Parts: sequence; C-alpha cells; structure tokens
Amino acid sequence: MGLVAVTWMNCLGRCLPQKTRFLHTLKGRQSDQILMSPSLASLDLPDTWTPNSSCQSIPDIRKSFNEQTPTVIDGKLMATEIRSKIADQVRQMKKCLGKVPGLAVILVGQRRDSLTYVHNKIIACEEVGMKSVVTELPTDCADADVQNAVMRFNKDPSIHGILVQLPLPQHLDEEKILDALCLEKDVDGFHPLNMGNLSLRGREPLFIPCTPKACIELLIRSGVKIMGKKAVVIGRSNIVGLPTSLLLQRHHATVTIVHAFTENPEQITSEAEIVVSAAGVPSLVRGNWIKSGATVIDVGTSPVEDPSSEDGYRLVGDVCFEEVKKVASVITPVPGGVGPMTVTMLLVNTLDSAKRMLNFT
Ligand code: GUN
Repeated sequence: MGLVAVTWMNCLGRCLPQKTRFLHTLKGRQSDQILMSPSLASLDLPDTWTPNSSCQSIPDIRKSFNEQTPTVIDGKLMATEIRSKIADQVRQMKKCLGKVPGLAVILVGQRRDSLTYVHNKIIACEEVGMKSVVTELPTDCADADVQNAVMRFNKDPSIHGILVQLPLPQHLDEEKILDALCLEKDVDGFHPLNMGNLSLRGREPLFIPCTPKACIELLIRSGVKIMGKKAVVIGRSNIVGLPTSLLLQRHHATVTIVHAFTENPEQITSEAEIVVSAAGVPSLVRGNWIKSGATVIDVGTSPVEDPSSEDGYRLVGDVCFEEVKKVASVITPVPGGVGPMTVTMLLVNTLDSAKRMLNFT
C-alpha cells in the first residue's frame, strides 16, 4: 500500500520542525462527516448549517443596537502568562527528576487547518521546554496504522500525552482509534471514559477537552460569573460543543444547545447571558442574535482564502465581530481569543499527566 509514516520530534530544541514542513503539502481537505452504521444513519444527520451572507449585508443594523465598548479578551496575553508558569514547572521537573513532559501527536493526511493546529502545538511545547513527537500518516492509511501509532506511544514512558488530530479522513474509524488511547495519556479528553466522567455528576474525568477548558478559563479570568447564568452553546460537536455544554453545566450555568436543526436559533441565542459559538460557520452570529451586555466566546476557526497572508489563507470566527461588539459587554476575537488558550490547556493537561505519572507534585 506504500504506507509511509513520518515521525519527527523537537528533542527539546535540537531539531525543531520548520513551519515549511507543514506548509509544503497544503492540498485538498477531507470531509469531516462521520461514517455511520446504516441503522442509525437516518437519525444521526450531519449538522449542515445554512451559511450566512457576510457581516456587511445588513447596512443599517447598527441603528437597532446600543453602542457600547466591550471588553475584548486578549487570549494571547492570558496564554502567555499561563505558559510562563508551565515553563517554570517544567524546569523544576527537569531539575528534580531529569525528565520533562512529553506530548505525541498523530496527524493523518494534510488538512490545512489540522497542519496549522499541529504546528502551533509543537511550537508551544518547544517554548515551555516539553518534548514533542509527531507521527504523520498518509491520508489513505488504515485504521490499524493509526492504532499501531497510538499503541506505540501508549507504551513509551517518555510520552505523557497523546493526541490524534481530528477530524480523521472519512474512511477511518475514529471511535476504534480513540478507544485505543491509554486513558492516562488522553490529554485531549476524547476517550469515551473521560467524556463519560465529564458528563456524570460526582465523577471527575482525568482530562477535560482543551477547547472547552479554554472557554471556561477565559470566562473566569475575565471575571464573568457562570453560576446561574443562561448560556447558549452553538454547535454540538464531540470536540467542542458537547463538552463545552457539559462543562458550563458543571459550573452551574443553565445551558441550551443550538444546532443546525434548531428552529429560531437567533431568538434562543438572544436570551443568553453567555454565548459560546462553535459551529464553524463564518458570519453565523449576527448582532441581533446577542442580548445587550452578553459575553460572547467565538470558537469558530474557518479558513478563508487570503492571498495577502503568508499562508494564502486566514482563520475567521463564527461571530460578526464588528456587529456583535456593539452589543456584547465581553467578546473574544479571532484570531487571538480562544485559539492560544486551547493550545495552553493542552500544555496544562500534558504537564498534569506527567506530574501524575511521575508522581511529581
Ligand atoms: N481538531 C480541532 N480541535 C482539536 C482538538 O482540540 N484536538 C484534536 N485532537 N483535534 C482537534
């Protein structure tokens, strides 16, 4: 089948991957639709949102809103502060044990957004002094190839966190692959036992998924109260929407999920004091979706062509920032909001995992 797995590592700065390594192969994208068994296929419809027109299409929309200056959360700054503390702890661990936390990433195929995310994760590991290893597999690899890579890292004592970058190509069985992850190294928190424990009251998952954890951290650090508040999560993906709704509930918010089949999503969303949008649809959330004074967290990161950018594209959020900032009291930008904090939460989870496995406090 001509399978080629490429594994490379940062070895703590000795052979740091170049960005070009990821960028030379920016080609087609895989569909992220999940394969379904025929009996469930009719019930488990994919969330296909109707794309909105661009934010500029309602010229007089500003007249209906109270103009106010919101707090724009600086996710980059918050991430820098947390990463500096992580770097201190990694140095301490190295001094005491002669070991550092190790993260393994498995990347299948060459989705443009996945390449960027993995690149950012590896650079972040390097910056805080963690070890990182990436195994790249071709798009047409088999389930067994990915499972073998997972099992190799499961056994590797220098690896404390493993993540399989999602979405996987359509022909692969994501469920089977995530099941193969050693629970103690599941720093993404996507193993069904971690997810199950997140959803059950009185139980604690070993790891909380990074983007939901980042959203909560951004809210808390910005002084936004969650307890008792009405929250709407837009999108119900396993990676973000679903675990974010569970985590907000754990923080005692009253949570509603809005998805592609929801009727009047704008009306439901406009009643919320906290909105987390994770639909992956540019310009979905307009000014009239938002209650005056609400907090808006934009998780959306959709690549759009941009010849003026270094990579030929840029990432845009779900929220019409210019419109919504006139209504919201707190808002995250894209880029520079949730993204840097998501990567930081991955570092937090990897450090926690290493501390647990190495019995280091
Ligand atoms: N794809 C998009 N976000 C994530 C993430 O947080 N973890 C993994 N493994 N894949 C992703």
